[in-house]
Amino acid sequence: GPADVDVTLVARAGRVTLASGRVLEGFTLNGTTPGPEIRAVQGQMVQVRLVNESVAEGVTLHWHGYDVPAADDGVAGVTQDAVPVGGEFVYRFRADQAGTFWYHSHQVADPQVQGGLFGALVVTPRAGLGDVTDVLAVTHVYQGRRTINGLDGDVPGTGTPGTRVRVRVVNTDNGSVQAWVGGAPYRLVAIDGAEVHDPSPTTDSLSITAGARADLEIDLPSDGGGVRVELGGASAVTFGGPLPRTPRPAHELDPLHYGTPVALGFDPDAATRRFDYVIGRRLGFLDGRPGLFWTINGHLWPDVPMYVVSAGDVVRMHIDNGSGEPHPMHLHGHHAVVLARDGVAATGSPWWVDSLDAQDGHTYDIAFVADNPGLWMDHCHNLAHPAEGLMAHLMYDGVTTPYHVGGDPHNDPE
Ligand code: C2O
Ligand code: CU
Repeated sequence: GPADVDVTLVARAGRVTLASGRVLEGFTLNGTTPGPEIRAVQGQMVQVRLVNESVAEGVTLHWHGYDVPAADDGVAGVTQDAVPVGGEFVYRFRADQAGTFWYHSHQVADPQVQGGLFGALVVTPRAGLGDVTDVLAVTHVYQGRRTINGLDGDVPGTGTPGTRVRVRVVNTDNGSVQAWVGGAPYRLVAIDGAEVHDPSPTTDSLSITAGARADLEIDLPSDGGGVRVELGGASAVTFGGPLPRTPRPAHELDPLHYGTPVALGFDPDAATRRFDYVIGRRLGFLDGRPGLFWTINGHLWPDVPMYVVSAGDVVRMHIDNGSGEPHPMHLHGHHAVVLARDGVAATGSPWWVDSLDAQDGHTYDIAFVADNPGLWMDHCHNLAHPAEGLMAHLMYDGVTTPYHVGGDPHNDPE
């Protein structure tokens, strides 16, 4: 079909000036970082032409959390070759999922994402948002400095007293960020682009893991009183009158028990595949370098067996992190539902994720339907970690790829 949303993004390496005037070496898309927000209405055809003007290592764009067809997934060496300087690549997908997502380079991803090659993708529902003002808050740490939408410091949000705002927080950083709201309660209405069922008002602190998104709905006080959406404690999205910085609430929201249940649309008890994803750490060699590396089921990358499924499988995965550090686990091309943590079953709204904070010393049971044939990465989104081996792949029976890591295009997804 014809493109309804048609965007060209030009990637450049060089000096980046943050809104505060702070200058750093990094990367831009159309001259800015974050790159332009891409906005579509559910059902529209999105076309993005990526042009690499000056990023020497090559670039790609991955649609984080968006369950695109595999050929559009944007992973160098898996679904395409890295786009060299002077080259271009066109991504096309139907925007069937409404919600908050983001895009980023998946070639030499750790330095490129840290340095600025990312932006937000927001798809609004067909039915519209109703009487809600949409506010985007992309948070990123550039060289130790937390920013919101590229601004270091507080960022005023749009929203008039007595109305409802939806603050879409996108965590593009390698670590999790704590969010809380001062001046009014909020409702956590979506996690990773998936609506939460029956979210109740809360004043809890919320941990948003690396790569994850959280949509917070807030009714702004009708007397014009101030509201601060604190991100990490050093900066906030602000509404209404001035309000002093609020301390982080002691209690943290637990999505395992938030909201109320609703049908999943599939039966995890009818699983046709069961996998373990056990994360550990040991001495070994990676790319010929000795070191202490992450292991998956005891193996070091690339000696990690693929998780193989057939289209239509109901898949259960048991994640067990005993590695000494947290890992924000991200599966491409699919949303998974969290069934249990440490054997304790979920009791709230279905907790759909594409980025799950697997804490050290904890286990997670997740399930998903294998409904998107392809070859998909399943890795840690602390992007320093996949470069140290913490990546595996979900592969569909009978699907192969002509691309591979290394070679002439120097494909290096992490
Ligand atoms: Cu956000 Cu494999 O990436
Ligand atoms: Cu990790």
